[in-house]
Amino acid sequence: MTETTDNIQQQSGQQTMNLKQYLTHKVFNVVSDIIAESGQQAYVIGGYVRDILLARKSKDIDIVVVGSGIELATAVHKVFKGSRLSVFKSFGTAMVKLRDTEVEFVGARRESYQHDSRKPIVEDGTLEDDQNRRDFTINALAIDLRKEYYGELVDPFGGLYDLDDLIIRTPLEPGITFSDDPLRMMRAIRFATQLGFDIEPETFDGIVRMASRIEIISMERITDELNKIMLSPVPSLGIKLLEKSGLLPYILPEIQALKGVDRVGQRGHKDNFYHSLQVLDTVSQKSDNLWLRWAALLHDIGKPKTKRYEEKQGWTFHNHNFVGMKMVSAIFRRLKLPLGQELKYVEKLVELHMRPIVLSEDEVTDSAVRRLLFEAGDDVEDLMCLCESDITSKNEDKVQRFLRNFKIVRRKMKEIEEKDHIRNFQPPVSGEEIMSMFNLSPSPMVGILKNALKDAVLDGIIHNDYDEAVAFLINLAKEHDMQPTKKYEQQG
Ligand code: CTP
Repeated sequence: MTETTDNIQQQSGQQTMNLKQYLTHKVFNVVSDIIAESGQQAYVIGGYVRDILLARKSKDIDIVVVGSGIELATAVHKVFKGSRLSVFKSFGTAMVKLRDTEVEFVGARRESYQHDSRKPIVEDGTLEDDQNRRDFTINALAIDLRKEYYGELVDPFGGLYDLDDLIIRTPLEPGITFSDDPLRMMRAIRFATQLGFDIEPETFDGIVRMASRIEIISMERITDELNKIMLSPVPSLGIKLLEKSGLLPYILPEIQALKGVDRVGQRGHKDNFYHSLQVLDTVSQKSDNLWLRWAALLHDIGKPKTKRYEEKQGWTFHNHNFVGMKMVSAIFRRLKLPLGQELKYVEKLVELHMRPIVLSEDEVTDSAVRRLLFEAGDDVEDLMCLCESDITSKNEDKVQRFLRNFKIVRRKMKEIEEKDHIRNFQPPVSGEEIMSMFNLSPSPMVGILKNALKDAVLDGIIHNDYDEAVAFLINLAKEHDMQPTKKYEQQG
């Protein structure tokens, strides 16, 4: 229980609760003065009130007025010099951008359904009508801004008790609230995950019943909620709720496909769904990087496609890292996630996630470490974080052995990096220079020489040094009957 809700519990015996001490922003007094003149009602509503009561840092302010939101916003904009007003006429809303926050104004609305149409008619309504249309009891709380009731909480659905009991519940029958906007099913799971709340059973049954309706929602809105789940303290809670409610197959079928255990006789493999979630949570304890978290969730998506049973070895997933890497871009495209550096980073981590483990099982050779440093580049720390989190065995001896070996890999990486500077490795001779060295036009031979040079450095045949590289190339070219141009003759 937070200090604030604790305080509220003590006050809740009283008939009304006053929260004016939390209305410290100047905009509340300004609105109060304006509506005193016009005789209107206006309230702070939604997330801002919820966050006050949870002692969370509040973000944007939402104000609902029984009347025109646009008119009230215009009046507020006039008072605040330097503020910016944006009017969304077709939605009947307006926003005033102040120096430190954004304030959204909306007229209270009600919706009524006609017998012959599923499309609601939106009309002006009372505060109560407006609260009825909101997603959850904890988001329907309002604070009165009228002078005579200034600071009083208006809580028709027991949102305060739900805040205190850590419950997400729809104000109306869940079927109604979720048909109004099916994204709210995702929002229920997102709030539960972010705040560590439970979803009330009837509300959860509503999600189960209506899961397929998520299909009418745009991917951008879905992904916005998904990313908020991924950035929560324990993201697996949200992914498990998505699975349990039946939403997951519509959003991330690749993760749904990881669930379950196949058996041949006594031999089963681990459930890769729960394994991936454990890795996701472990990574999330160590890092806030959204893309590292995505890499953790997706690192084993290649497993269902590569699963085989072999008499000798049992269950194998050969090349699942490579197959998984190939699946990442389709997922990013579908979810409308960014397709630049972020995608490349997740692909790289999924592809390389087995490397340090394989490395630590064999003898840790300099050449293998150099290759790993070269391929992972600046993301090598994140890769190690993912790999260490990937050890989820229940066998404590095995875990300790892996972690010990990882320490050896890390030590070796440090030594080699200090010596050879592979992380930001650029071949000491460029493709351009190779062309001018042997009078070549762009051709496959340039690539052959360039790759051979890269391998020679990574395998430690030569140092990462210009003169050694030129000598190496001249010798190699001789095998292909090529002579260097005059400028390079001396160096062979
Ligand atoms: N709301 C709703 N149904 C939605 C989205 C929003 O009823 N699908 C209402 C809720 O009352 C919510 C308010 O609009 O509190 C503001 O929505 P939003 O800014 O999206 O969310 P917050 O609750 O403020 O939370 P967050 O800022 O964490 O998204």
